[in-house]
Amino acid sequence: MSVRPPPGRVHCLIRRVLPASLAARTALFLLVALMGVQAAGLTIHAFDRVDLQRAAAEREMSSRAFTVWRTALMTPPDRRAAAVNDLDLPPGLDATVDDAPAVRANMGPPPPPFLRLARPEVLLAAPPRFRPREVQAGMRQGTLFVSLRTPDGDWVNFRIHMPPLRPWHSDTFLAAFLLMTAAAATLILWATRRLTRPVRDLAAAANALGRDVNAPPLPEDGPLEVATAAHAFNTMAERIRRFVGDRTQMLAAIGHDLRTPITRLKLRAEFMDDDEQRAKMLADLEEMEAMVTATLAFARDDAATEPSVPLDLAALCRTVLDEAADARPDAEPDTFVYAGPERLPVRGRPIALKRALANLVANAANYGGAARLTLDPPQAGQIALRIEDDGPGIPEESQEAVFQPFRRLETSRNRETGGVGLGLPIARNILRAHGGDVTLRNRPDGGLTALVTLPA
Ligand SMILES: Nc1ncnc2c1ncn2[C@@H]1O[C@H](COP(=O)(O)OP(=O)(O)O)[C@@H](O)[C@H]1O
Ligand SMILES: [Mg+2]
Repeated sequence: MSVRPPPGRVHCLIRRVLPASLAARTALFLLVALMGVQAAGLTIHAFDRVDLQRAAAEREMSSRAFTVWRTALMTPPDRRAAAVNDLDLPPGLDATVDDAPAVRANMGPPPPPFLRLARPEVLLAAPPRFRPREVQAGMRQGTLFVSLRTPDGDWVNFRIHMPPLRPWHSDTFLAAFLLMTAAAATLILWATRRLTRPVRDLAAAANALGRDVNAPPLPEDGPLEVATAAHAFNTMAERIRRFVGDRTQMLAAIGHDLRTPITRLKLRAEFMDDDEQRAKMLADLEEMEAMVTATLAFARDDAATEPSVPLDLAALCRTVLDEAADARPDAEPDTFVYAGPERLPVRGRPIALKRALANLVANAANYGGAARLTLDPPQAGQIALRIEDDGPGIPEESQEAVFQPFRRLETSRNRETGGVGLGLPIARNILRAHGGDVTLRNRPDGGLTALVTLPA
Protein backbone atom coordinates (compact mmCIF):
# COMPACT_ATOMS: atom_id res chain seq x y z
CA MET A 1 0.00 0.00 0.00
CA SER A 2 1.46 3.35 -0.94
CA VAL A 3 0.93 6.37 1.23
CA ARG A 4 0.66 9.67 -0.51
CA PRO A 5 2.22 12.65 1.23
CA PRO A 6 -0.32 15.31 2.14
CA PRO A 7 -0.48 17.98 -0.56
CA GLY A 8 1.62 21.08 0.21
CA ARG A 9 0.22 24.53 0.66
CA VAL A 10 1.35 25.72 -2.74
CA HIS A 11 -0.31 22.70 -4.26
CA CYS A 12 -3.55 23.49 -2.44
CA LEU A 13 -3.40 27.10 -3.53
CA ILE A 14 -2.80 26.18 -7.17
CA ARG A 15 -5.68 23.76 -7.02
CA ARG A 16 -7.98 26.40 -5.58
CA VAL A 17 -7.03 29.02 -8.18
CA LEU A 18 -7.01 26.73 -11.21
CA PRO A 19 -10.40 26.29 -12.87
CA ALA A 20 -11.73 22.74 -12.83
CA SER A 21 -12.44 22.05 -16.48
CA LEU A 22 -9.83 21.12 -19.05
CA ALA A 23 -11.15 23.76 -21.45
CA ALA A 24 -10.92 26.51 -18.86
CA ARG A 25 -7.41 25.44 -17.81
CA THR A 26 -6.12 25.32 -21.36
CA ALA A 27 -7.71 28.68 -22.10
CA LEU A 28 -6.16 30.19 -18.98
CA PHE A 29 -2.67 28.90 -19.78
CA LEU A 30 -2.88 30.06 -23.39
CA LEU A 31 -4.18 33.45 -22.37
CA VAL A 32 -1.47 34.06 -19.78
CA ALA A 33 1.22 32.95 -22.22
CA LEU A 34 -0.20 35.13 -24.95
CA MET A 35 -0.39 38.16 -22.67
CA GLY A 36 3.26 37.67 -21.76
CA VAL A 37 4.30 37.42 -25.39
CA GLN A 38 2.18 40.44 -26.26
CA ALA A 39 3.58 42.51 -23.45
CA ALA A 40 7.11 41.63 -24.56
CA GLY A 41 6.32 42.41 -28.19
CA LEU A 42 4.68 45.71 -27.44
CA THR A 43 7.51 46.70 -25.13
CA ILE A 44 10.10 46.04 -27.81
CA HIS A 45 8.01 48.05 -30.20
CA ALA A 46 7.66 50.89 -27.70
CA PHE A 47 11.39 51.02 -27.05
CA ASP A 48 12.02 51.10 -30.79
CA ARG A 49 9.62 53.98 -31.19
CA VAL A 50 11.15 55.89 -28.30
CA ASP A 51 14.61 55.28 -29.72
CA LEU A 52 13.54 56.79 -33.03
CA GLN A 53 12.00 59.80 -31.32
CA ARG A 54 15.08 60.30 -29.26
CA ALA A 55 17.35 60.10 -32.30
CA ALA A 56 15.21 62.71 -34.07
CA ALA A 57 15.23 64.95 -31.01
CA GLU A 58 19.01 64.58 -30.71
CA ARG A 59 19.54 65.51 -34.31
CA GLU A 60 17.34 68.55 -33.89
CA MET A 61 19.11 69.61 -30.69
CA SER A 62 22.61 69.33 -32.09
CA SER A 63 21.78 71.09 -35.32
CA ARG A 64 20.18 73.95 -33.35
CA ALA A 65 23.19 74.07 -31.06
CA PHE A 66 25.44 74.45 -34.13
CA THR A 67 23.26 77.27 -35.37
CA VAL A 68 23.68 79.00 -32.03
CA TRP A 69 27.44 78.52 -32.13
CA ARG A 70 27.72 79.83 -35.70
CA THR A 71 25.54 82.82 -34.93
CA ALA A 72 27.70 83.59 -31.91
CA LEU A 73 30.91 83.42 -33.97
CA MET A 74 29.54 85.53 -36.86
CA THR A 75 28.33 88.28 -34.53
CA PRO A 76 30.77 90.90 -33.14
CA PRO A 77 31.55 90.28 -29.46
CA ASP A 78 29.58 93.28 -28.17
CA ARG A 79 26.30 92.19 -29.81
CA ARG A 80 26.90 88.49 -29.30
CA ALA A 81 24.86 87.98 -26.10
CA ALA A 82 21.83 89.82 -27.52
CA ALA A 83 21.97 87.90 -30.82
CA VAL A 84 22.08 84.53 -29.06
CA ASN A 85 19.26 85.63 -26.78
CA ASP A 86 17.08 86.56 -29.75
CA LEU A 87 17.39 83.11 -31.30
CA ASP A 88 14.25 80.97 -31.21
CA LEU A 89 15.31 77.72 -29.52
CA PRO A 90 13.32 74.47 -29.11
CA PRO A 91 12.10 73.48 -25.64
CA GLY A 92 14.85 71.79 -23.63
CA LEU A 93 17.63 73.83 -25.26
CA ASP A 94 18.88 76.99 -23.69
CA ALA A 95 21.95 79.02 -24.69
CA THR A 96 23.59 82.14 -23.20
CA VAL A 97 26.80 84.04 -23.74
CA ASP A 98 28.72 84.63 -20.50
CA ASP A 99 32.16 85.59 -19.29
CA ALA A 100 32.73 82.23 -17.62
CA PRO A 101 31.80 78.59 -18.41
CA ALA A 102 28.58 77.27 -16.80
CA VAL A 103 30.21 73.91 -16.22
CA ARG A 104 31.33 73.58 -12.62
CA ALA A 105 33.97 71.33 -11.18
CA ASN A 106 31.49 69.49 -8.97
CA MET A 107 29.41 68.30 -11.93
CA GLY A 108 29.57 64.69 -13.00
CA PRO A 109 30.89 63.65 -16.41
CA PRO A 110 28.11 63.35 -18.99
CA PRO A 111 27.30 59.78 -20.04
CA PRO A 112 28.19 58.96 -23.65
CA PRO A 113 24.61 59.08 -25.02
CA PHE A 114 24.26 62.63 -23.77
CA LEU A 115 27.60 63.64 -25.13
CA ARG A 116 26.28 62.69 -28.57
CA LEU A 117 23.96 65.69 -28.29
CA ALA A 118 26.79 68.16 -28.29
CA ARG A 119 29.21 66.14 -30.41
CA PRO A 120 32.30 68.02 -29.35
CA GLU A 121 34.44 65.82 -31.61
CA VAL A 122 32.63 67.24 -34.65
CA LEU A 123 33.23 70.75 -33.35
CA LEU A 124 36.88 70.06 -32.79
CA ALA A 125 37.23 68.70 -36.33
CA ALA A 126 35.48 71.77 -37.80
CA PRO A 127 37.42 74.31 -39.93
CA PRO A 128 39.67 76.47 -37.76
CA ARG A 129 37.26 79.40 -38.03
CA PHE A 130 34.54 77.43 -36.20
CA ARG A 131 36.74 75.52 -33.84
CA PRO A 132 36.16 76.43 -30.18
CA ARG A 133 39.23 77.29 -28.14
CA GLU A 134 38.07 75.11 -25.30
CA VAL A 135 35.19 72.68 -24.62
CA GLN A 136 33.81 71.76 -21.20
CA ALA A 137 30.92 69.41 -20.46
CA GLY A 138 29.19 68.38 -17.26
CA MET A 139 25.99 66.80 -16.08
CA ARG A 140 23.73 67.76 -13.22
CA GLN A 141 20.24 66.45 -12.45
CA GLY A 142 19.57 65.22 -15.95
CA THR A 143 20.69 68.46 -17.59
CA LEU A 144 23.73 68.52 -19.85
CA PHE A 145 25.90 71.58 -19.59
CA VAL A 146 28.24 72.30 -22.50
CA SER A 147 30.46 75.36 -22.56
CA LEU A 148 32.38 76.44 -25.68
CA ARG A 149 34.96 79.18 -25.60
CA THR A 150 35.04 81.59 -28.55
CA PRO A 151 38.29 82.99 -30.01
CA ASP A 152 37.40 86.27 -28.30
CA GLY A 153 37.56 84.66 -24.84
CA ASP A 154 33.89 84.66 -23.84
CA TRP A 155 31.85 81.53 -23.44
CA VAL A 156 28.70 80.16 -25.09
CA ASN A 157 26.90 78.05 -22.47
CA PHE A 158 24.39 75.44 -23.55
CA ARG A 159 21.94 73.81 -21.17
CA ILE A 160 20.28 70.82 -22.75
CA HIS A 161 17.53 68.97 -20.96
CA MET A 162 16.10 65.81 -22.49
CA PRO A 163 12.83 64.44 -21.00
CA PRO A 164 13.28 60.87 -19.63
CA LEU A 165 12.28 57.91 -21.76
CA ARG A 166 8.71 56.80 -21.12
CA PRO A 167 7.95 53.94 -23.46
CA TRP A 168 4.68 52.98 -21.75
CA HIS A 169 3.45 56.51 -21.54
CA SER A 170 1.19 56.20 -24.54
CA ASP A 171 -2.52 55.56 -24.92
CA THR A 172 -1.95 53.26 -27.84
CA PHE A 173 0.09 50.87 -25.74
CA LEU A 174 -2.76 50.06 -23.34
CA ALA A 175 -5.44 50.17 -26.02
CA ALA A 176 -3.49 47.83 -28.29
CA PHE A 177 -2.80 45.50 -25.39
CA LEU A 178 -6.45 45.33 -24.28
CA LEU A 179 -7.79 44.99 -27.79
CA MET A 180 -5.40 42.20 -28.74
CA THR A 181 -6.01 40.38 -25.46
CA ALA A 182 -9.78 40.56 -25.89
CA ALA A 183 -9.59 39.30 -29.46
CA ALA A 184 -7.24 36.49 -28.46
CA ALA A 185 -9.38 35.54 -25.43
CA THR A 186 -12.48 35.16 -27.61
CA LEU A 187 -10.61 33.00 -30.08
CA ILE A 188 -8.95 30.89 -27.40
CA LEU A 189 -12.21 30.28 -25.51
CA TRP A 190 -13.97 29.27 -28.67
CA ALA A 191 -11.15 26.98 -29.79
CA THR A 192 -10.62 25.25 -26.43
CA ARG A 193 -14.34 24.62 -26.00
CA ARG A 194 -14.45 23.10 -29.45
CA LEU A 195 -11.33 21.02 -28.94
CA THR A 196 -12.41 19.60 -25.58
CA ARG A 197 -15.94 18.79 -26.70
CA PRO A 198 -15.01 15.18 -27.59
CA VAL A 199 -13.80 14.66 -24.00
CA ARG A 200 -17.18 15.83 -22.68
CA ASP A 201 -18.95 13.60 -25.21
CA LEU A 202 -16.86 10.63 -24.09
CA ALA A 203 -17.71 11.27 -20.43
CA ALA A 204 -21.40 11.54 -21.28
CA ALA A 205 -21.26 8.31 -23.26
CA ALA A 206 -19.52 6.48 -20.40
CA ASN A 207 -22.22 7.75 -18.06
CA ALA A 208 -24.96 6.62 -20.39
CA LEU A 209 -23.36 3.19 -20.74
CA GLY A 210 -23.33 2.86 -16.95
CA ARG A 211 -27.08 3.42 -16.90
CA ASP A 212 -27.97 1.40 -19.93
CA VAL A 213 -25.75 -1.13 -21.69
CA ASN A 214 -27.78 -0.62 -24.85
CA ALA A 215 -26.99 3.11 -25.07
CA PRO A 216 -26.30 4.24 -28.66
CA PRO A 217 -22.61 4.15 -29.76
CA LEU A 218 -20.43 7.25 -30.10
CA PRO A 219 -19.93 8.73 -33.56
CA GLU A 220 -16.43 7.72 -34.76
CA ASP A 221 -15.52 10.87 -36.68
CA GLY A 222 -13.57 14.02 -35.92
CA PRO A 223 -9.80 14.33 -35.38
CA LEU A 224 -7.74 11.14 -35.46
CA GLU A 225 -7.19 10.84 -31.68
CA VAL A 226 -10.87 11.48 -30.98
CA ALA A 227 -11.98 8.94 -33.57
CA THR A 228 -9.57 6.36 -32.12
CA ALA A 229 -10.85 6.95 -28.59
CA ALA A 230 -14.47 6.75 -29.75
CA HIS A 231 -13.75 3.52 -31.61
CA ALA A 232 -12.06 2.01 -28.54
CA PHE A 233 -14.99 3.08 -26.39
CA ASN A 234 -17.53 1.56 -28.76
CA THR A 235 -15.58 -1.70 -28.87
CA MET A 236 -15.50 -1.82 -25.08
CA ALA A 237 -19.24 -1.11 -24.89
CA GLU A 238 -19.90 -3.90 -27.39
CA ARG A 239 -17.85 -6.37 -25.31
CA ILE A 240 -19.69 -5.38 -22.14
CA ARG A 241 -23.01 -5.81 -23.93
CA ARG A 242 -22.02 -9.26 -25.15
CA PHE A 243 -20.73 -10.24 -21.72
CA VAL A 244 -23.91 -9.13 -19.96
CA GLY A 245 -26.03 -10.80 -22.62
CA ASP A 246 -24.17 -14.12 -22.34
CA ARG A 247 -24.45 -14.20 -18.57
CA THR A 248 -28.13 -13.40 -18.65
CA GLN A 249 -28.78 -16.07 -21.23
CA MET A 250 -26.85 -18.62 -19.24
CA LEU A 251 -28.79 -17.79 -16.08
CA ALA A 252 -32.08 -18.08 -17.91
CA ALA A 253 -31.07 -21.40 -19.47
CA ILE A 254 -30.06 -22.88 -16.10
CA GLY A 255 -33.29 -21.70 -14.49
CA HIS A 256 -35.30 -23.12 -17.31
CA ASP A 257 -33.54 -26.49 -17.29
CA LEU A 258 -33.95 -26.87 -13.52
CA ARG A 259 -37.72 -26.69 -13.74
CA THR A 260 -38.23 -30.07 -15.32
CA PRO A 261 -36.26 -32.10 -12.74
CA ILE A 262 -37.96 -30.19 -9.91
CA THR A 263 -41.37 -31.12 -11.30
CA ARG A 264 -40.25 -34.77 -11.64
CA LEU A 265 -38.97 -34.75 -8.03
CA LYS A 266 -42.30 -33.38 -6.83
CA LEU A 267 -44.10 -36.28 -8.52
CA ARG A 268 -41.71 -38.80 -6.98
CA ALA A 269 -42.09 -37.25 -3.53
CA GLU A 270 -45.78 -37.98 -3.66
CA PHE A 271 -44.89 -41.70 -3.54
CA MET A 272 -43.01 -41.41 -0.24
CA ASP A 273 -44.56 -43.36 2.61
CA ASP A 274 -43.35 -41.22 5.50
CA ASP A 275 -45.91 -38.36 5.74
CA GLU A 276 -43.65 -36.01 7.62
CA GLN A 277 -40.68 -36.49 5.30
CA ARG A 278 -42.92 -36.12 2.28
CA ALA A 279 -44.33 -32.79 3.51
CA LYS A 280 -40.81 -31.45 4.19
CA MET A 281 -39.56 -32.63 0.82
CA LEU A 282 -42.47 -30.98 -0.97
CA ALA A 283 -41.93 -27.73 0.95
CA ASP A 284 -38.25 -27.70 -0.06
CA LEU A 285 -39.13 -28.38 -3.66
CA GLU A 286 -41.74 -25.61 -3.52
CA GLU A 287 -39.02 -23.24 -2.32
CA MET A 288 -36.63 -24.34 -5.06
CA GLU A 289 -39.29 -23.75 -7.65
CA ALA A 290 -40.00 -20.26 -6.30
CA MET A 291 -36.29 -19.47 -6.43
CA VAL A 292 -35.98 -20.67 -9.98
CA THR A 293 -38.99 -18.61 -11.03
CA ALA A 294 -37.56 -15.52 -9.35
CA THR A 295 -34.19 -16.15 -10.96
CA LEU A 296 -35.80 -16.38 -14.37
CA ALA A 297 -37.59 -13.09 -13.79
CA PHE A 298 -34.35 -11.50 -12.61
CA ALA A 299 -32.47 -12.80 -15.64
CA ARG A 300 -35.12 -11.68 -18.08
CA ASP A 301 -34.65 -8.11 -16.88
CA ASP A 302 -37.57 -6.60 -18.78
CA ALA A 303 -36.41 -3.23 -17.51
CA ALA A 304 -33.60 -3.12 -20.07
CA THR A 305 -36.00 -3.21 -22.99
CA GLU A 306 -38.69 -0.91 -21.61
CA PRO A 307 -38.56 2.55 -23.18
CA SER A 308 -37.96 5.64 -21.05
CA VAL A 309 -40.99 7.97 -20.99
CA PRO A 310 -42.14 11.06 -19.05
CA LEU A 311 -44.09 9.95 -15.96
CA ASP A 312 -45.48 11.32 -12.70
CA LEU A 313 -43.36 9.94 -9.85
CA ALA A 314 -45.80 11.15 -7.16
CA ALA A 315 -48.67 9.26 -8.79
CA LEU A 316 -46.45 6.19 -9.20
CA CYS A 317 -45.59 6.24 -5.48
CA ARG A 318 -49.27 6.48 -4.50
CA THR A 319 -50.16 3.59 -6.82
CA VAL A 320 -47.46 1.40 -5.29
CA LEU A 321 -48.76 2.15 -1.77
CA ASP A 322 -52.39 1.57 -2.79
CA GLU A 323 -51.55 -1.79 -4.34
CA ALA A 324 -49.55 -2.83 -1.27
CA ALA A 325 -52.51 -1.85 0.94
CA ASP A 326 -54.89 -3.82 -1.28
CA ALA A 327 -52.70 -6.89 -0.88
CA ARG A 328 -53.05 -6.64 2.92
CA PRO A 329 -56.73 -6.04 3.59
CA ASP A 330 -56.37 -6.60 7.34
CA ALA A 331 -53.61 -3.97 7.85
CA GLU A 332 -54.20 -0.86 10.00
CA PRO A 333 -55.46 2.12 7.98
CA ASP A 334 -52.32 4.20 8.54
CA THR A 335 -49.86 1.44 7.59
CA PHE A 336 -49.19 2.89 4.14
CA VAL A 337 -48.71 6.66 4.17
CA TYR A 338 -47.59 8.98 1.40
CA ALA A 339 -46.11 12.44 2.07
CA GLY A 340 -44.90 14.62 -0.80
CA PRO A 341 -45.95 16.77 -3.73
CA GLU A 342 -49.13 16.18 -5.69
CA ARG A 343 -47.23 15.80 -8.97
CA LEU A 344 -43.56 15.27 -9.80
CA PRO A 345 -42.77 14.76 -13.48
CA VAL A 346 -39.64 12.73 -14.27
CA ARG A 347 -38.36 10.57 -17.13
CA GLY A 348 -38.10 6.85 -16.54
CA ARG A 349 -39.30 3.32 -17.26
CA PRO A 350 -42.63 3.14 -15.42
CA ILE A 351 -42.97 -0.64 -15.02
CA ALA A 352 -39.39 -1.05 -13.80
CA LEU A 353 -39.59 1.90 -11.39
CA LYS A 354 -42.85 0.61 -10.01
CA ARG A 355 -41.29 -2.80 -9.46
CA ALA A 356 -38.32 -1.27 -7.61
CA LEU A 357 -40.50 0.83 -5.30
CA ALA A 358 -42.95 -2.03 -4.77
CA ASN A 359 -40.07 -4.28 -3.61
CA LEU A 360 -38.97 -1.66 -1.06
CA VAL A 361 -42.52 -1.02 0.15
CA ALA A 362 -43.16 -4.77 0.43
CA ASN A 363 -40.00 -5.18 2.53
CA ALA A 364 -41.06 -2.34 4.83
CA ALA A 365 -44.51 -3.88 5.24
CA ASN A 366 -43.21 -7.45 5.66
CA TYR A 367 -40.34 -6.81 8.03
CA GLY A 368 -41.32 -3.45 9.53
CA GLY A 369 -45.12 -3.57 9.73
CA ALA A 370 -45.55 -0.20 8.01
CA ALA A 371 -44.42 1.77 4.94
CA ARG A 372 -44.24 5.54 5.11
CA LEU A 373 -43.11 6.98 1.81
CA THR A 374 -41.76 10.55 1.73
CA LEU A 375 -41.00 12.19 -1.60
CA ASP A 376 -38.85 15.36 -1.56
CA PRO A 377 -39.04 17.87 -4.40
CA PRO A 378 -35.91 17.95 -6.59
CA GLN A 379 -32.86 19.61 -5.07
CA ALA A 380 -29.63 20.24 -6.97
CA GLY A 381 -30.78 17.92 -9.75
CA GLN A 382 -31.58 15.09 -7.33
CA ILE A 383 -34.85 13.62 -6.13
CA ALA A 384 -34.75 11.94 -2.70
CA LEU A 385 -37.38 9.42 -1.68
CA ARG A 386 -37.52 7.69 1.70
CA ILE A 387 -39.40 4.55 2.72
CA GLU A 388 -39.53 4.11 6.50
CA ASP A 389 -40.85 1.30 8.70
CA ASP A 390 -41.06 0.41 12.39
CA GLY A 391 -39.33 -2.99 12.24
CA PRO A 392 -36.08 -4.25 13.75
CA GLY A 393 -33.92 -2.60 11.08
CA ILE A 394 -30.77 -4.25 9.69
CA PRO A 395 -27.40 -4.44 11.47
CA GLU A 396 -25.02 -1.93 10.00
CA GLU A 397 -22.58 -4.56 8.69
CA SER A 398 -25.37 -6.23 6.65
CA GLN A 399 -26.85 -3.10 5.15
CA GLU A 400 -24.83 -3.54 1.95
CA ALA A 401 -24.80 -7.35 1.94
CA VAL A 402 -28.58 -7.65 1.62
CA PHE A 403 -28.27 -6.13 -1.87
CA GLN A 404 -26.60 -9.35 -3.08
CA PRO A 405 -28.86 -11.81 -4.87
CA PHE A 406 -30.44 -14.45 -2.61
CA ARG A 407 -29.02 -12.83 0.52
CA ARG A 408 -31.60 -13.01 3.30
CA LEU A 409 -30.96 -12.34 6.95
CA GLU A 410 -31.20 -15.25 9.38
CA THR A 411 -34.17 -13.73 11.21
CA SER A 412 -36.25 -13.66 8.08
CA ARG A 413 -35.52 -17.22 6.98
CA ASN A 414 -39.17 -17.82 7.47
CA ARG A 415 -40.50 -18.11 3.91
CA GLU A 416 -43.89 -16.80 5.00
CA THR A 417 -42.50 -13.27 4.89
CA GLY A 418 -40.87 -11.89 1.76
CA GLY A 419 -39.47 -13.74 -1.18
CA VAL A 420 -36.23 -15.44 -2.05
CA GLY A 421 -33.80 -12.58 -1.52
CA LEU A 422 -33.98 -10.90 -4.92
CA GLY A 423 -36.16 -7.90 -3.96
CA LEU A 424 -33.36 -5.53 -3.00
CA PRO A 425 -30.90 -6.47 -5.80
CA ILE A 426 -33.65 -6.01 -8.37
CA ALA A 427 -34.62 -2.64 -6.88
CA ARG A 428 -31.00 -1.47 -6.91
CA ASN A 429 -30.42 -2.68 -10.48
CA ILE A 430 -33.41 -0.74 -11.70
CA LEU A 431 -32.60 2.44 -9.79
CA ARG A 432 -28.97 2.41 -10.89
CA ALA A 433 -30.09 1.92 -14.47
CA HIS A 434 -32.00 5.18 -14.01
CA GLY A 435 -28.87 6.95 -12.80
CA GLY A 436 -30.00 6.76 -9.16
CA ASP A 437 -29.39 4.38 -6.27
CA VAL A 438 -30.88 2.94 -3.08
CA THR A 439 -29.19 2.54 0.32
CA LEU A 440 -30.44 1.33 3.71
CA ARG A 441 -30.02 3.03 7.06
CA ASN A 442 -31.41 2.32 10.53
CA ARG A 443 -33.63 4.99 12.00
CA PRO A 444 -32.47 6.44 15.33
CA ASP A 445 -35.79 5.57 16.94
CA GLY A 446 -36.05 2.05 15.50
CA GLY A 447 -36.99 0.78 12.08
CA LEU A 448 -35.32 1.02 8.70
CA THR A 449 -35.10 3.76 6.08
CA ALA A 450 -34.59 2.89 2.44
CA LEU A 451 -33.16 6.02 0.82
CA VAL A 452 -33.78 6.23 -2.91
CA THR A 453 -32.14 8.87 -5.12
CA LEU A 454 -33.05 9.61 -8.70
CA PRO A 455 -31.83 12.29 -11.11
CA ALA A 456 -34.47 15.01 -11.49
N1 LIG B 1 -37.39 -3.12 5.95
C1 LIG B 1 -36.63 -4.14 6.38
N2 LIG B 1 -36.46 -4.37 7.70
C2 LIG B 1 -35.68 -5.40 8.12
N3 LIG B 1 -35.01 -6.22 7.29
C3 LIG B 1 -35.14 -6.06 5.97
C4 LIG B 1 -35.94 -4.99 5.44
N4 LIG B 1 -35.88 -5.06 4.11
C5 LIG B 1 -35.08 -6.09 3.80
N5 LIG B 1 -34.64 -6.71 4.90
C6 LIG B 1 -33.73 -7.86 4.97
O1 LIG B 1 -33.03 -7.95 3.73
C7 LIG B 1 -33.22 -9.22 3.14
C8 LIG B 1 -33.22 -9.12 1.66
O2 LIG B 1 -34.36 -8.45 1.20
P1 LIG B 1 -34.91 -8.75 -0.24
O3 LIG B 1 -33.77 -8.63 -1.17
O4 LIG B 1 -36.09 -7.90 -0.50
O5 LIG B 1 -35.29 -10.26 -0.19
P2 LIG B 1 -36.58 -10.94 0.41
O6 LIG B 1 -37.53 -9.88 0.78
O7 LIG B 1 -37.04 -11.78 -0.71
O8 LIG B 1 -36.08 -11.74 1.55
C9 LIG B 1 -34.51 -9.70 3.71
O9 LIG B 1 -34.56 -11.11 3.72
C10 LIG B 1 -34.52 -9.14 5.12
O10 LIG B 1 -33.80 -9.98 5.96
MG1 LIG C 1 -38.19 -8.41 -0.36
